[in-house]
Amino acid sequence: MSIFKDHIDAMSAYKPPLEGRDPVEYTLLDFNERTIEVVEPIREALHGLIDSGRLHMYPSYGDIAEQIADYAGVGADQVMITNGSDHGIDLIIRSACQVGDEIIIPGPSFAMYSQCAKFEGLHMVEPQYTREGGYPVDEVISSVTDKTRVVVVSNPNNPCGTIVSPDDIVRIAKAAPGAAILVDECYFEYSQVTVADRLHESPNILITRTFSKTWGLPSIRLGYVLSVADNINALLNVRGPYDINQFAVVAVSAGLKCRDLTLAYVKEVMEVSKPLLEAFLEQRGVEFWPSAANYLWVFPQNPEAIELALRDEKILVRPKANAEGQLGLRMTIGTEEQTRHLIDVLGRALP
Ligand SMILES: Cc1ncc(COP(=O)(O)O)c(C=O)c1O
Repeated sequence: MSIFKDHIDAMSAYKPPLEGRDPVEYTLLDFNERTIEVVEPIREALHGLIDSGRLHMYPSYGDIAEQIADYAGVGADQVMITNGSDHGIDLIIRSACQVGDEIIIPGPSFAMYSQCAKFEGLHMVEPQYTREGGYPVDEVISSVTDKTRVVVVSNPNNPCGTIVSPDDIVRIAKAAPGAAILVDECYFEYSQVTVADRLHESPNILITRTFSKTWGLPSIRLGYVLSVADNINALLNVRGPYDINQFAVVAVSAGLKCRDLTLAYVKEVMEVSKPLLEAFLEQRGVEFWPSAANYLWVFPQNPEAIELALRDEKILVRPKANAEGQLGLRMTIGTEEQTRHLIDVLGRALP
């Protein structure tokens, strides 16, 4: 007999394929990360913390919430820092739901939402994205019941890159006033689409964001939640006082001070590399989903063979099946040089 709750025992762990990802050996296009090292001022700030004689102290967060608020264009009382955005997603779902409540998670989507829903014992409602129709807005609205406690809007969605307009998100928020509308803006810097300026209209919207994907800091974990101050205060009751480590705070503070360096990388990815890859795929007649993010979900005829061919040339991408079980390859877009190399290898591997 287990000491744990039955539904926890019945779950399986979320285990992304992280092992063996050597950044020297491989071009890592499999986790939607920044594909090059972090900018120098961040590295210097981290060395500074090691040498500061403060490692034996608990972390203190100073004015990091103010710095992030300034970057996000909201008040400091509208920000809560988290240990990566996974932590924010977990805290929101945990705080809003009880066993048996409903959560709407349009799929296919990022695994953490369903993982959190499972460990809270929630009933999942999963309308599907389509390549043509995008996020199923009307189906989501018609699925709302008096048991719905969370509606997920992954914006843009992983793996398909689909974006939902701020107007549609506000429409969903108004249709489900008793639910938390969890808007995951993990890839905000790439999409530039946000509802951060619409929080006053819909107090049930909670945005999660991260310094993992654009800023290159997934290893040290800093995310944040944006919402109206009352929601932030409630979530702060649940978050631990030391959940975020000092390295993350120091690195992000340094990164925000030289944000132009990071935003130059975003510009290269979105304005140079992505159009190159899209044009190549269109020219070769390979289907992919329209994406507002730094990745494309690509459906070649022979995905297994293409994945192996890329791996042989030291490029990693991520296989992801669609709702019909058809396998696609999610390809992270990096620098122009990396993208030209990817196109070169794909050009030889595609039939
Ligand atoms: C849509 C989405 N949300 C959240 C995350 C998690 O990011 P973090 O590193 O901030 O926990 C990911 C990571 O892949 C993601 O794709």
